[in-house]
Amino acid sequence: MCLMTHFSIGKGRSAMEGKMQKKLEEIFEWFHRNPELSYEEYRTTERIRQLLTDAGIEILPLPLETGLVAVIRGEKEGPVQALRCDIDALPIMEETGLPYSSETPGRMHACGHDFHITAGIGTALLLQERRRELAGTVKLLFQPGEESSLGALKILETDVCDDVQLFWGLHADPTNEAGVIGLREGAVAAAVDRFVITIKGVGCHGAHPDDGVDPIPAACAIVQTLQTIVTRNVNAFHPSLISVTRIEAGNTWNVIPETAELEGTVRTMDRADRELFEKKVELIARKTAESYGAQAQVQWIPGPPAVINDEEMAEYAAQTARRLGFSVVPEEQSLGGDDFSFYEEKAPCCYIKIGTGKGQLIHQPGFAVEKSVLAPTAEYLAEVLMNQIKIRTTRSSALVI
Ligand code: NI
Repeated sequence: MCLMTHFSIGKGRSAMEGKMQKKLEEIFEWFHRNPELSYEEYRTTERIRQLLTDAGIEILPLPLETGLVAVIRGEKEGPVQALRCDIDALPIMEETGLPYSSETPGRMHACGHDFHITAGIGTALLLQERRRELAGTVKLLFQPGEESSLGALKILETDVCDDVQLFWGLHADPTNEAGVIGLREGAVAAAVDRFVITIKGVGCHGAHPDDGVDPIPAACAIVQTLQTIVTRNVNAFHPSLISVTRIEAGNTWNVIPETAELEGTVRTMDRADRELFEKKVELIARKTAESYGAQAQVQWIPGPPAVINDEEMAEYAAQTARRLGFSVVPEEQSLGGDDFSFYEEKAPCCYIKIGTGKGQLIHQPGFAVEKSVLAPTAEYLAEVLMNQIKIRTTRSSALVI
């Protein structure tokens, strides 16, 4: 537990800020008590709608069953920006012991998306109050299904983001204290791909392997050889990994099975590395199986690309954080993924890690967000979105003034 030296709730803060903190704590506790899994976020969506509508905030039509997009239209000229807040929870039994723990057994906001929702609502309330000075338009994307890796695509398949020029995202960070913000330009989260390899041999009696083609030694050789992609093919300075996470073959002790199946994941930060992995997994599986007299088929299931932070957005977000009294540290790179990256294919993005107090990591049953971060995060995000941004991004088409 740490009370930050740079920044603290209470002392020196106005009564209005204290009121906002109290309101956001109530909002946060409700969402924490009521976690819902991907695409089942009905009550969550309804609650967000209610809270925003009560504040007179406009909700845009969205042809999705869950999730919601709100808009604040500033009275000055400026860019169209979006803030992505994911809203789904995880199938985890909560073990925090908090008085506002999950009321649904086996469901928990263990990735901090309840914090993201609350920060997003707080940001919306602040921007609504300040819309006279707001330059441009801000869309708040309360996105369903992040844990499925495909929720962002559901939002992007609608036309609600067609005019967005800059996308901002946030994530709770339990590796940093409250008051610390992690930012960096470039890759911060990995491309997430999945593969399934089916090895086909010829089944036979366990005592007569010479009568068939055993797929199991071929599968084992493939598991071993796949690791050489990381150590022999990828530039040693590029983070990447391949994990075989499931291996299945046979169902008894004296029969050599006909097939074996491997499944796993590849994580990369670089587009060329991602393509290299796809080619090499195919080649290694096919050729290794062939050398054992078997055949391999590879199914490659692409997930979200890497999250790449725009240089100027990251710099601007860091300056704003420092101005408000946060400490800014280099954002930890992770081979985990976030479907936020799909937005980056449309317009420049920046994914900000908000220190939520050191403790158990995300997706663990003891993960908890310190409530003291709620109002400061909303104030920070509102400040990022309020400012007249002059960002000349690396993309020629995305000059935003
Ligand atoms: Ni998350």
